[in-house]
Amino acid sequence: MQQINFQATIEVIEHYKDLPTKDAELCQAAIDAKQGSYSIYSKFRVGSAVLMENGEIISGSNQENAVYPLTLCAERVAIFAASHQFPEVAFRKIAVATSMEEAPNELPAFPCGSCRQSIREQEVRYDNSIEVLVIGNDGKVFRMSSVKEILPFSFDKSAL
Ligand code: THU
Repeated sequence: MQQINFQATIEVIEHYKDLPTKDAELCQAAIDAKQGSYSIYSKFRVGSAVLMENGEIISGSNQENAVYPLTLCAERVAIFAASHQFPEVAFRKIAVATSMEEAPNELPAFPCGSCRQSIREQEVRYDNSIEVLVIGNDGKVFRMSSVKEILPFSFDKSAL
């Protein structure tokens, strides 16, 4: 029997303030974006920020609804806003911050499957890798050079 194995590389940085200025600014924008979260049902605040090729940073937060499935994740609020504002500019990086106050030293929540697929869409769209920075409550950063690290065998337009 033939097997296909895959491996993910995730770098761990002690604190986002140790990153180069623009990356630290991006992480700060994701943390600050949690303030815009409308999460009265889950009480789980998520903030996200994307860094575009032109240096612009666009942020978003999770927006919930009494009809639960209508909820939109922070990452997609940020991605769609950025895509709308800059329809011809590639995405370079995306940062995500969640509220995990109860377990500050645990692994933070990573982007959900739908958000991974939405990040992947922008990689395929502009044929580039988008760095993903997941921020823990203690400021620790889990960094991937592409969403492909956490979304192997993703679906894209080449299948259509
Ligand atoms: N959420 C996000 O904003 N991003 C994710 O990647 C996962 C989950 C939000 C959706 C909902 O408002 C809350 O977290 C709980 O699922």
